[in-house]
Amino acid sequence: MRLKIIAGNWKMNKTNAEAVELTRVLVDLVGDREHPRVVICPPFTALSEVARTLTGSKIHLGAQNVYSEESGAFTGEISPAMLLTSGVSYVILGHSERREYFAESDQMVNAKVKMALQAGLLPIVCVGERLKEREAGLTEVVVGEQIDGSLAGLTEEQIAKTVIAYEPVWAIGTGKTATPEMAQDVHAFIRNRLKSRHGAVADEVTIQYGGSMKPDNASGLLSQPDIDGGLIGGASLKAEQFAKIVDSV
Ligand code: PGA
Repeated sequence: MRLKIIAGNWKMNKTNAEAVELTRVLVDLVGDREHPRVVICPPFTALSEVARTLTGSKIHLGAQNVYSEESGAFTGEISPAMLLTSGVSYVILGHSERREYFAESDQMVNAKVKMALQAGLLPIVCVGERLKEREAGLTEVVVGEQIDGSLAGLTEEQIAKTVIAYEPVWAIGTGKTATPEMAQDVHAFIRNRLKSRHGAVADEVTIQYGGSMKPDNASGLLSQPDIDGGLIGGASLKAEQFAKIVDSV
């Protein structure tokens, strides 16, 4: 049985007070849940306060990025140790918004994934095609390259700790979701690709779907054999909606 994970990507939303308030409600609604594993990823500034609010609950804390160096003259960046000491265990890497607006390449994502794993953080590595690429029949080419590039050089043990999030870019924040069958096809492709590059450990890897996942489409997606959870953006900002998605696993 693969670990199912529902993670909330809060993106650049919530001041500290708002983050603590949302966390309090989530602790009430799903704080005792172990299956699926629940992860929330607030902005950096709210991590420590959210960590305190999560004390005693089973919800895990994640960050939305980390830098690929341990420390030093990298103005504006955040190191793995800073995250770990703020109570973080997961980190989202290579999100399409970072790839698009901050020019993150697979090589940069790969360096961050390695640094995160070495430090003891669990990476959630995002991949996904743009609309033009899907329409041109390039989904597998694009996603295959992202998987190979972002996870290059990882050991089997490291692959086992890595979570993949398949997020078709055209479905993020648009209200357009991949159908369960479309998503399942890509998830199966990703698992096979992992198998061909990294061996049987691929069967243990949690592969989340992300892109306009909501309470009304979650169970259709989550009932597919290779969809092991969700990375939720918009709906993770509303406690009731997020809790409903958790419940639908
Ligand atoms: P969305 O975002 O659920 O708002 O589409 C998903 C994501 O970007 O992780």
